[in-house]
Amino acid sequence: MTTPTTPTLDDGYQIPEEERGATGARQRRETYADLVARLSHQSVVKHFDAYADVPWDDPEYRIDPEDPRWELAEDDVLGATSWYRGQPQAVRARIGLHMIATFAKIGLQFEGVLKRGLLEFALRLPNGTPEFRYAYHEIIEEAQHSLMFQEFVNRTGFDIPGLSWWQRFGARQVVRFGRTFPELFFIFVLGGEDPIDYVQRTALRGGRSLHPLLKRIMQIHVTEEARHLCFARHYLKEHAPRLGVVRRFVLSRRAPFILAIMSQMMMRPSAQIVRTYGIPRAVIREAYTRNPVHRARTLEALRKVRELCGEIGILTPGSTLVWKLLGVWEAAPALATA
Ligand SMILES: [Fe+2]
Ligand SMILES: [Fe+2]
Repeated sequence: MTTPTTPTLDDGYQIPEEERGATGARQRRETYADLVARLSHQSVVKHFDAYADVPWDDPEYRIDPEDPRWELAEDDVLGATSWYRGQPQAVRARIGLHMIATFAKIGLQFEGVLKRGLLEFALRLPNGTPEFRYAYHEIIEEAQHSLMFQEFVNRTGFDIPGLSWWQRFGARQVVRFGRTFPELFFIFVLGGEDPIDYVQRTALRGGRSLHPLLKRIMQIHVTEEARHLCFARHYLKEHAPRLGVVRRFVLSRRAPFILAIMSQMMMRPSAQIVRTYGIPRAVIREAYTRNPVHRARTLEALRKVRELCGEIGILTPGSTLVWKLLGVWEAAPALATA
């Protein structure tokens, strides 16, 4: 690991501009191939190891499921309900930790799909393309993240099932898009990475005292994900505008489905949590289904990728209808035609 040189997110890591995506003058100067090469170089000079860079056995990092630091904040949509606030402190903490462990499990299963899709993507690349090296760096980084997330889940003591069978079935279909339809695959990547990145950055910037283990994991993850998001966005900007009419149509109609499903998986409690703590349906409706705050946060988490869809020309009058029907549409960016 190389220590970051800039001051940082919270007291952890600030994302250097090169990993957030080039802007302004640099964007005009730099070609797509240059950018991919630069991201690959960043993967060499700044990367993390799941075991060397997280002090798992430090007593400060020990997980106590009833530690109040796991409790949901009052501005969390579930944390704000009177049902949640009326639970004993130990239960409030357990619910919070159970939710984090579930997101970690779903996250590592998503990363499994991502790694397999990237291997498929790399398989068809001609010799000499910079994406091959970049894709392998990303696969290696995601493998470290998955080790880190699974270790965290194991140490919480919760037996988290993760994705349901039908979600795992759907995920398997996504893997082959890495080879057969990379643009669609990278929309899926952004659908998984963007909302969780949003949630983690918000948590790191918030004023709450976070458990040091969670904080360390999020700092590492946010730092490396910045490269992954940057690559996916630039891959789409480079390649999506060159798609033929049929593929562009398919991309425009499937993107909102993928994004709507992925964002909810990362932002709501699982069926196991609802069952375990007996969360009443009315509370789920109050916190999520009919909560304008939850809807606004979901839209905010999807904002960057929605704007990207506009930039690459797949927000058409027809496709925005799908976004609206799925409840993930917000004020209209410029529409493409068709
Ligand atoms: Fe990751
Ligand atoms: Fe990633």
